[in-house]
Amino acid sequence: MSIIAGQAVRGDNFWDRPYLMADIFDVVESGGHILLVAPRRVGKTSLMYRIKDTVNNDYIVVYVNTQAAHSANAFWEKLFEQLMDEEFINTLKSKAKKLYKILKSIRVSEVSIKGIKFGKSKTINYAKAFETLLKSLDNDKKLIIMLDEFSQTIENIIKYQSIEEAEQLLENHRDLRQNHRLLQKTVFVYAGSIGLESVVANIQSSKHINDLVNVDVPPLEYDDAKSFALHLCSSNKMTIEEADIEYMLDKILWLIPFNIQLVAQELKRLYRREPIINSTVVDAAIENVLKHKKDFIHWQERLEIFDKIEYNFSIDVLNTLSTNGKIPSTEIFNLASKHKLEESKAKTVIHALRYDGYINNKEDARTYHFNSPILRTWWYRNVAN
Ligand SMILES: Nc1ncnc2c1ncn2[C@@H]1O[C@H](COP(=O)(O)OP(=O)(O)OP(=O)(O)O)[C@@H](O)[C@H]1O
Ligand SMILES: [Mg+2]
Repeated sequence: MSIIAGQAVRGDNFWDRPYLMADIFDVVESGGHILLVAPRRVGKTSLMYRIKDTVNNDYIVVYVNTQAAHSANAFWEKLFEQLMDEEFINTLKSKAKKLYKILKSIRVSEVSIKGIKFGKSKTINYAKAFETLLKSLDNDKKLIIMLDEFSQTIENIIKYQSIEEAEQLLENHRDLRQNHRLLQKTVFVYAGSIGLESVVANIQSSKHINDLVNVDVPPLEYDDAKSFALHLCSSNKMTIEEADIEYMLDKILWLIPFNIQLVAQELKRLYRREPIINSTVVDAAIENVLKHKKDFIHWQERLEIFDKIEYNFSIDVLNTLSTNGKIPSTEIFNLASKHKLEESKAKTVIHALRYDGYINNKEDARTYHFNSPILRTWWYRNVAN
């Protein structure tokens, strides 16, 4: 297993998450559509690839990253491009191959409420196009369409087009999911590095996604994280005592695979220079992780989705939290009134911070902490001071 801290991982580099895979397939088999709920860097894309790489013959999987799509038009274009991809077409019957050969040669030129227009040809309703496609699949096959960065697409459309266009796309998706002819044979899996729920709540469109089944992508359980860290170190030829693994996990606390990879990567660099690992070396590795601006800056930039008052409030909350280690909800409401922010809006901001992986109040509902002590330290040094 190689140390990879950044790109989605695949094959031998993927630390298996069998329970999570089973959770997902339970929903798939019961005909539900899925929203993968997890903060940034938790491993959503890797998980989607894992599904694609390991499903049995009953399924055909299409994975699309729609991040770059800034309009509904671009979104459908990306999806249909993927559906016309050779690898996918090869899984279809010959009749469908012919259809897609034709579609492939003409680009999507316009998407309207009515459907999708391919070049100069007539408009094809995309639900119809899906139906045609699905009819051409073998009867016993189910199609899993994974839409990664869908929430980013919705946010882009709000920003660069209009709220109405974003709503329309959400509505079209809901219609597709509820189309009886598609229902039995298609499963949509949505994910994104920002919470879809927060994005749609901002435009009062939660009703368009409330049929989705939320599947949580949690951090690793302690024992699993320990096995992962040990395996990562040993397959990278580092000798490490169990006590030092435990020390490292205590420092990381928020046990997402990414955090373990980041520290392992720095340990490997230090180990190369001096092949010894103890708690001082683990501390040094974490110090080195804290120098990676690119791995943290998105936590700050992400807050720009809020309006100015909410933004200032959220920064103030996180600054206080990084300084004091915890913040009681009473103080959060004091900060809200200092910023002249209504209590309900303050609650929405706190909910978004929780949902997007910044903070939690698991131990005591009235007290918040950073999920990640490493992020807390970074925030304290780089944002609060
Ligand atoms: N199952 C896994 N095994 C090993 N490492 C993993 C696993 N899942 C995630 N990682 C680590 O987390 C990093 C991020 O993974 P991935 O890109 O899948 O997360 P993501 O949730 O899609 O992130 P983003 O929110 O930025 O899109 C990987 O580079 C890798 O270091
Ligand atoms: Mg991702």
